[in-house]
Amino acid sequence: MLEKLMRRKTAETNVSLPEQIALVKSRKIPAHVAIIMDGNGRWAKKRNLPRIAGHHEGMKTVRKITRVANDLGIKVLTLYAFSTENWKRPKMEIDFLMKLPGEFLSTYLPELIEQNVKVEMIGNFNVLPDHTKKAIQRAMEATASNDGMTLNFAMNYGSRLELIECVKEIANQAANGEIDVSDIDESFIDSHLMTAHLPEPDLLIRTSGEVRLSNFMLWQLAYAEFSFTDVLWPDFDEQCMLNEIREFQSRSRRFGNVERDGDV
Ligand code: IPE
Ligand code: IPE
Ligand code: MG
Repeated sequence: MLEKLMRRKTAETNVSLPEQIALVKSRKIPAHVAIIMDGNGRWAKKRNLPRIAGHHEGMKTVRKITRVANDLGIKVLTLYAFSTENWKRPKMEIDFLMKLPGEFLSTYLPELIEQNVKVEMIGNFNVLPDHTKKAIQRAMEATASNDGMTLNFAMNYGSRLELIECVKEIANQAANGEIDVSDIDESFIDSHLMTAHLPEPDLLIRTSGEVRLSNFMLWQLAYAEFSFTDVLWPDFDEQCMLNEIREFQSRSRRFGNVERDGDV
């Protein structure tokens, strides 16, 4: 209750963003935040614009949220940009979405470098169009030695496909006698996922009011805190992000244990 009042107070009084950031940073910050960026199409529809206009606007939100997440000291920001199911969309929309990494990265790569952000990707890279691959590759190479926040794009990502690949790999290793079936435990599976090198998400945010995972990080989100907001992705701004982190800070994470105060 007090937390809620405080949240409202900070949002209503004119506390500047840097001041709010400093305040939020004085409490525990989630190491890994994953976002299902949803609602671009509806944002455009409300304005009688084509869906791609919503995707273009959503790109600006990616820039804003990357900056504030980095300022907050978040270590990994994973953004769900294209799912393995999104190939079902009209070709024209897919073509546009495949051009976005190139546009985003050619515009913002210098500032990502300046912010010490490291660009990475999870998902099935091989079947992306060549120009999309090139843009992502170039950004990953240009930022490879950065040791600030990891900006991890889930591009042509699907959790079930990831798990299928993981199971196949492990089954092959077992068939070849490289491993024993008894070697398979949680950390073994973790190490065979595309997120092997990343901490698991502490917080999952989905915009646009949809309350589902849409095949996103099914294994990795086992103990994440979930937050669903009605705000459409192009309208999601720094203030929304700060509110989400505050909400996270008000949660009590237990991981199956009895309640522990000040856990997050
Ligand atoms: C999210 O916005 C972006 C992608 C899935 C690529 P949508 O395009 O899903 O927007 P809505 O859900 O139709 O509003
Ligand atoms: C999930 O959003 C995928 C991304 C945000 C990239 P969708 O808009 O594709 O999900 P559904 O179809 O509404 O479940
Ligand atoms: Mg959607």
